[in-house]
Amino acid sequence: MALLKVTFGFTILSVLSFTGSLAHPGFSGWGGTDPIGGGGVSFGLFPEFYQFSCPQANDIVMSVLKKAIAEEPRMAASILRLHFHDCFVQGCDASILLDDSATVVSEKNSGPNRNSIRGFEVIDEIKAKLEEACPQIVSCADILALAARGSILLTGGPYWELPLGRRDSRAASLSGSNTNIPPPNSTIQNLITFFKRQGLNEVDLVALSGGHTIGVARCVTFKQRLYNQNGQNQRDETLEKTYYLGLKSVCPISGGDNNISPLDFSSPVRFDNSYFKLILCGKGLLTSDAVLFTGNIGYIMDLVRSFAEDEDFFFHQFAKSMVKMGNINPLTGFNGEIRKNCRGVN
Ligand code: HEM
Repeated sequence: MALLKVTFGFTILSVLSFTGSLAHPGFSGWGGTDPIGGGGVSFGLFPEFYQFSCPQANDIVMSVLKKAIAEEPRMAASILRLHFHDCFVQGCDASILLDDSATVVSEKNSGPNRNSIRGFEVIDEIKAKLEEACPQIVSCADILALAARGSILLTGGPYWELPLGRRDSRAASLSGSNTNIPPPNSTIQNLITFFKRQGLNEVDLVALSGGHTIGVARCVTFKQRLYNQNGQNQRDETLEKTYYLGLKSVCPISGGDNNISPLDFSSPVRFDNSYFKLILCGKGLLTSDAVLFTGNIGYIMDLVRSFAEDEDFFFHQFAKSMVKMGNINPLTGFNGEIRKNCRGVN
């Protein structure tokens, strides 16, 4: 297992983490200003955030996760995806965890999430244990980030230092969920645009797509490729022939929409670089996977090749890009709240 450390210039921030954990007054945004420089005080996220207020936070997350993934290996994938779908909609603020209520229209019913996103019970169990150990200290948004990192570690992927201190939103955005999460039939240009909107570049796009080295997709998300890719009742010619025939048996032209197929059939519960090896030979499941190589953008194709050849390089870049994704628009300081129950505002 590759152990990677993504290092940050947090020396000063870590000294201040005690105050930060308890009150974190006035923290705003991510790492913009030198904390003691002329620009005034500005705090972001930092790995030691719970060092004094809830030192056992990560251990609690890991113990619940370990059990859940042992019971159902796919859960690692489902939890990673929860964090992604959280961060792409108004930032990493646990908005995705909110249920419908008098004041909230849940993101759980958006096109990308409905009948698809899962893992909420595992997050509930983690939260319940954390509330027992350190009441109202650890945010649901940080639980998602910790659980995503843990899921990758437990399935054989890299470890990295994870900036913490996100707070939870008091609102969800159904429309944001419908418009900001890229659809599976995206072109390469679409994908680049969706990621740019979140401050993520092409390298992040390719590395984070490597999240599809674990987990599954429903037939409805790739059916078009088998029967009607170009609107003329033809298959996607970039799909390798035997792989295509196998997919057709899982995903018939009518019905079977909820049948599932692994995103990386060679090692569906192992976090490794085989996803990229499959893409190179026409065995990526979704259009959005395939276009990383067939989209004909030279430097993106080169990245796919490099990740396929060098797993350490993929792990290193994946860890960096996960930190970047986890830093999308966090609520800090007096913004947001620490929910008592991840499914509802306090
Ligand atoms: C690049 C654009 C992306 C598109 C178009 C996309 C699309 C999809 C789709 C359609 C599914 C299957 C959903 C279903 O059948 O219900 C899926 C599953 C999944 N996605 Fe993505 N995804 C993208 C990026 C990402 C990223 C950045 C991550 C994480 C870093 C990720 C992690 C996952 C995981 C782990 C699963 C499997 C979930 C499970 O088995 O429960 N995806 N994705």
